[in-house]
Formats: sequence, C-alpha cells, structure tokens
Amino acid sequence: MAKKHLWALFIVVATLAVVGVSLQADEFTDTDVERWQAEYMTVVAEGRALWGSPDLGTNGVACGQCHPNAANTHPETYPKFQKQLGRVIAVREMINWCIMNPLEGETLELDDPRMIALEAYIAYERRGVALDPGKH
Ligand code: HEC
Repeated sequence: MAKKHLWALFIVVATLAVVGVSLQADEFTDTDVERWQAEYMTVVAEGRALWGSPDLGTNGVACGQCHPNAANTHPETYPKFQKQLGRVIAVREMINWCIMNPLEGETLELDDPRMIALEAYIAYERRGVALDPGKH
C-alpha cells in the first residue's frame, strides 16, 4: 500500500477510535440504578394516587372508575390516530381528553409533573407489553 494511503487509513482509524470513546455511555453504579429506580417508583406512586382521585376533574369522577388499574389505556399503542381528536396523538393528549370529558376538568400542560405521573403509572401497569404504535 502506498504511504499516502497508509496515512489516510491511520486517520480514519484514529477518528473512529476518538468517536468510539466519546460515544461510550456514562459509567454508573448499582447505587445510582437503585436511586433512579426509587425516583421512578415515587412518580408511579404519585400517578397511582391521582388515578383514584377526583382532584383532576370537577364532577367527582376519577380515572380508576372506568380504567381500574389503568385497564384499557393501551399506552403501548401510542402515538396513534384517535378519532376523538382527528389526528395522530401522544397518549398524553388522550389523558387530557379524558380529563376534559369524563372528568369535566381543566387540561394539564403536557409537561406538568401530574401528567408525567399519570403516564408513568399507566406505562408501569403495562410494563412488559410489546410496543405496538398505531394499533387499534
Ligand atoms: C366515564 C368513564 C371514563 C373515565 C372516568 C376516564 N376515561 Fe379514559 N376513556 C374512556 C373512554 C370511553 C375512552 C375511549 C376509548 C377509545 O375510543 O379508545 C377512554 C380512553 C382513554 C385512553 C386511551 C385508550 C386507548 O385505547 O387508546 C386513555 C389513555 C385514557 N382514557 C386515560 C384516562 C385518564 C388518565 C382518566 C382520568 C383523568 C380517564 N381516562 C378517565 C372512559 C373514561
């Protein structure tokens, strides 16, 4: 191989090595994982509490009355087309639809901590179910 080509090869290999190092995931310990899991479960518990609470609405109705243990919420099928909204939506928008309609409440901001908690709770109840976006 000509010297010129060897240099080119060297540069390519060196670049890949540098990129490879920078793409490596951060290191973390078992203690980190335990803490992150505990934080997640705290948010799931907040979602579970909201699920049984009439505070999201104005008419005394709670999510759990129609969706006990998050039944029939199918978070794994989102984003999908929902006829109620006439377009492809995220599950948060359907959560808001139920807050507005069956609960006659005010919609939540999509990044409201209560919205994250509701979503964390329904996803937790459906853990292990394969993603199936778009499915009806
Ligand atoms: C009075 C009964 C009732 C209550 C209370 C209720 N829902 Fe629903 N929910 C429905 C109905 C009806 C649908 C529509 C099913 C459909 O067309 O997909 C639905 C659909 C959903 C879906 C989408 C399900 C799917 O298969 O795509 C989610 C998510 C959801 N509700 C969350 C909530 C949340 C969160 C609350 C509380 C804020 C709530 N629901 C309260 C009746 C209810």
